[in-house]
Amino acid sequence: MKGRITGLSGPTVTVSIKGLKLYERVSVGEAGLAGEVVRLEKDKAVIQVYEDTRGLGIGEMVSGTGKAFHARLGPGLLLALFDGLQRPLKRLEEKTGPFVTKGSDISGLDHTIRWRFFPSKKNGEAVTSGDIIGYVMENNFNHYIAFHDEREGRISWIRHDDFCLDDPVAKLEDGREIFGYHEWPVRIPMPYRKKFSPTEPLVTGQRCIDFLFPFGKGGTAIMPGGFGTGKTILEQSIAKYAEADIVVYVGCGERGNEIAEMIEEFHLLDDAWTDRKLMDRTLLVVNTSNMPVSAREASIYTAVTMAEYYRNMGYHVLFLADSISRWAEALREISSSLEEMPGEEGYPTYLSSRLSGFLERAGVVETMNGKIGSLSMIISVSPAGGDFTEPVTQSCMRTSGAFLMLDTALAHRRQFPAVNWLHSYSLYEKDITAYYRDTIAPAWDDLKKRCKEILQREETLREVVEVVGVEGLQDEDRLVMIAAERIRMEFLCQNAYTEDAFSLPEQTLSKISAILKFFDTAAAGIREGKPLDEIRAEKTGITTGENV
Ligand SMILES: Nc1ncnc2c1ncn2[C@@H]1O[C@H](COP(=O)(O)OP(=O)(O)OP(=O)(O)O)[C@@H](O)[C@H]1O
Ligand SMILES: [Mg+2]
Repeated sequence: MKGRITGLSGPTVTVSIKGLKLYERVSVGEAGLAGEVVRLEKDKAVIQVYEDTRGLGIGEMVSGTGKAFHARLGPGLLLALFDGLQRPLKRLEEKTGPFVTKGSDISGLDHTIRWRFFPSKKNGEAVTSGDIIGYVMENNFNHYIAFHDEREGRISWIRHDDFCLDDPVAKLEDGREIFGYHEWPVRIPMPYRKKFSPTEPLVTGQRCIDFLFPFGKGGTAIMPGGFGTGKTILEQSIAKYAEADIVVYVGCGERGNEIAEMIEEFHLLDDAWTDRKLMDRTLLVVNTSNMPVSAREASIYTAVTMAEYYRNMGYHVLFLADSISRWAEALREISSSLEEMPGEEGYPTYLSSRLSGFLERAGVVETMNGKIGSLSMIISVSPAGGDFTEPVTQSCMRTSGAFLMLDTALAHRRQFPAVNWLHSYSLYEKDITAYYRDTIAPAWDDLKKRCKEILQREETLREVVEVVGVEGLQDEDRLVMIAAERIRMEFLCQNAYTEDAFSLPEQTLSKISAILKFFDTAAAGIREGKPLDEIRAEKTGITTGENV
């Protein structure tokens, strides 16, 4: 299908062409820029170009590929760093130099790598779509290779040796060949049999999350926060320490140097949960602020498709994106260049449905081959001016299970992670706390309630302190203030640059137990009539009531 450009406006191109399909991938102009059909009219199509359109002219050719914008899925994904169009940046650089030339089309997978194939089917065995036929070892992971064809078949030959992606791994009796990779349209969720609600925790290593607002495998959490509230650091800490098999991290419109530093650091660090290197389990998709805005819109779909691919192998995959607001801005830009009717704050009216459709790709699933896998999402949001009533935060809130509000005032006081404990919530709290209670300590739930209660009482007492000063408080109340301060500074604070950046649930528990034990002992002393300062001197070696 070919046609000529009749109109150009920024990244949007109008072509006189018939027969294209919505969301079909097209090649635009002599340079062969990557584009996607975003609107169809009687005899013209509107195309969103994902690369810089400068230099493109009226009359240049546009050709359809016949396929929707897709990701190529197979062994080698964990070895590469991708841009939003799934182009592997390192191989792209080898091909085109440090400045990516326009129209560079390169497969997401390296077809020259040789993999050892371990078959799990035999000759004569029947296969249906989703069946695993074998695996290869990718960064010490079993990378399962499945059969992806709606038509069933019977194996006539299966490989027992090395192959590269251009070689088949098996053949069917009817002559069809099975390869080690396949393609999937990124805007469509990959199939699964059943979806369940999260019931098992996804340990993040962050005490404020694991203890106060626990997160479950298969859940979704959003982290809105104003400028400099620690979104990137928290996302990266979670990427480092979370108890996930595979982490897919999308740098979406944020600073390129932050990602570069992250890659450097991840290559050196070990995975806290296994004996692998951290980079072995990390899949990075970057579309930083210096890359074309339009590809940013596609980047989260490319990334989530790769995440679903590993989920379908039965892995627990964690998807992190920093920040979804930059994605929404790209959507807004595209929508306005299409002259669509703007909704709230100029965002398209379908912002909310797009966001919820995206977040709903998370979940615990039974895969087509009967394995259990999960896809969890933790997504940062950068509301302009820290205003949480803006449309992106509000739309995300409606669909996500946990809301971790990053607080500018806490960040100013350098209390990091700056998660506000009064306004944040997790809908997984009940189930996940029950899990911790049953597996780590029966007292987990009780300790959490007491911790929250002390923090709440502190909040109420603050108003009193403003009037009468700390000295005007009863010893009992002063003790609450002291305990709350300890909870905030010793327990909820975690400096990302020290060893304390990661805390196992057992360590989290013993830390909060120690603080609450101090509180109980001191409270008992006060009830017996001892002055608080004396008790503190006895118990902690602190002589006077400093801090408060
Ligand atoms: N857990 C932490 N431990 C120590 N310092 C932290 C932590 N989190 C954030 N910081 C400090 O706060 C600064 C800002 O954090 P970060 O860059 O993550 O904010 P951000 O919300 O991503 O900002 P932006 O809105 O500009 O993207 C960091 O450079 C660091 O000094
Ligand atoms: Mg940031």
